[in-house]
Amino acid sequence: MAPGKGIVSGKKAIVTGAASGIGRAISEALAAEGATVLGVDLPSAEWSTSETLEGPIARLAIDITDPAAPGTIVDTASALLGGIDILVNNAGIITAGDAETTSDDQWNRVMAVNVHAVFRLTREAIPLLRKSAGASIINTGSIVSELAGPGIIAYITSKHAVAGMTKAMAVNLGKYGIRANFLQPGSIVTPLAQSVSNDPEFIAYWERKITLGRLGQPGDIAPVAVFLASDAARYISGEGVRIDGGATVNA
Ligand SMILES: NC(=O)c1ccc[n+]([C@@H]2O[C@H](COP(=O)([O-])OP(=O)(O)OC[C@H]3O[C@@H](n4cnc5c(N)ncnc54)[C@H](O)[C@@H]3O)[C@@H](O)[C@H]2O)c1
Repeated sequence: MAPGKGIVSGKKAIVTGAASGIGRAISEALAAEGATVLGVDLPSAEWSTSETLEGPIARLAIDITDPAAPGTIVDTASALLGGIDILVNNAGIITAGDAETTSDDQWNRVMAVNVHAVFRLTREAIPLLRKSAGASIINTGSIVSELAGPGIIAYITSKHAVAGMTKAMAVNLGKYGIRANFLQPGSIVTPLAQSVSNDPEFIAYWERKITLGRLGQPGDIAPVAVFLASDAARYISGEGVRIDGGATVNA
């Protein structure tokens, strides 16, 4: 669809973790539905080549845990896009380790990316979000925002924090007309998921558990983010949306 014709036509979006997986799919889907997007991701060969708006997606290479990152990201969005209507806090990391084995460094890094950076970027974006006629914050949680499982205690804790933070943001910011919701993907085929499990048993477990019989793809998540970003979701705030192929209802 040409820019300017979709359900988020004219809206300006920041998407973190936009170089890969779910964030990449969300960026492309928002752009396809008419938004202009500032994609943010770690400096990499691919990502450091463009920091200008070439087409509907601009790119900024920065570590979101850098103390100066929120200011740089919001200033860049202001300069390139002219404002912010949609903030997608999607960048996330996972680390393997349970209650006995997780190190301080693992714990702190997961919290820094998955929790602290989400809070700090959102706080920085609030003045521009307040100027939007229909602002939407979308944080990427997980089905482990409300459930637990073995082997990833820091990640599970961080995603529970995303749920609580998003609900508090909805309560705090509703008076400005700013909505805040979180995505709860199930088992989605991306580099993040592969980093903790290439195990055929893991895949077989999920294929049995997922009612729809297949692992998810980033493209299964992106349309839900676009909907939450759009004015069609104008009365939805404080909500988590499970997008897991029916896995978590299947006891
Ligand atoms: N894949 C799944 O099964 C799954 C399930 C539930 C939730 N999620 C969540 O979805 C989100 C996206 O994950 P994904 O599966 O697409 O993984 P991914 O690894 O494909 O993408 C994550 C992106 O975030 C970027 N990133 C990581 N740390 C960063 C930092 N400090 N600064 C800037 N960018 C950074 C990475 O470079 C990467 O491009 C994460 O929050 C993840 O926790 C994923």
